[in-house]
Amino acid sequence: MYVVVQITQKYNDVIEEGYTAHLTTAGVIGDVFPDGRETKEILDIAAGTGLVADELKKMGFRLIDALEPSKGMLELAVKKYRNVFNQGLSKDPLPFPSDKYDAITICGWHGSAGPLADSLSEMTRVVKPGGYICIVTRMHYVQNLDDYKETFLPECIKLEADGKWKQLEFKGFMGYPFNNEGVKMVFRVC
Ligand SMILES: C[S@@+](CC[C@H](N)C(=O)[O-])C[C@H]1O[C@@H](n2cnc3c(N)ncnc32)[C@H](O)[C@@H]1O
Repeated sequence: MYVVVQITQKYNDVIEEGYTAHLTTAGVIGDVFPDGRETKEILDIAAGTGLVADELKKMGFRLIDALEPSKGMLELAVKKYRNVFNQGLSKDPLPFPSDKYDAITICGWHGSAGPLADSLSEMTRVVKPGGYICIVTRMHYVQNLDDYKETFLPECIKLEADGKWKQLEFKGFMGYPFNNEGVKMVFRVC
């Protein structure tokens, strides 16, 4: 466990290397909820060490839950969240009732697009109509990687065609270490 905590503490060094994706993600949620923030329920998927929760709390959000498969990450994040769910996205249904959350954040998603694509429909189920889903990852992944082009992007288009969500934003920003571009994608659930 000591080694895991060391590695995950080291993870926060990314901020010094220019990582600002958590600021961008929290900024989106702050912009869409200028009022009543203390009553909004937010699910932070792939929560990591809780960088998004740190920023959301500074803005007045209080009811923030985390879904994160790494126990080591959650060790550092647990005190920042109302509830933590130690599991990852997969083909399985999300363990939440329908229309529970006002927003979902997914910040810094990395690796395979498959589990993300498999879960998007479930996310539209657990977010209230009129609520938001904000996904922030590297622009390179979305533009260039085959699994994003073959699974994630087609699922985004299908959900819009099926009337499950509406894309509000797809915008690049410089916020990944070593001058890499991020992308923020914002969807409103129908
Ligand atoms: C780069 S970190 C981002 C953490 C945090 N959101 C941030 O911006 O600092 C990616 C996180 O995704 C988590 N992760 C990996 N596979 C996952 C899955 N299938 N479902 C949910 N989270 C996953 C990792 O454990 C890790 O904490």
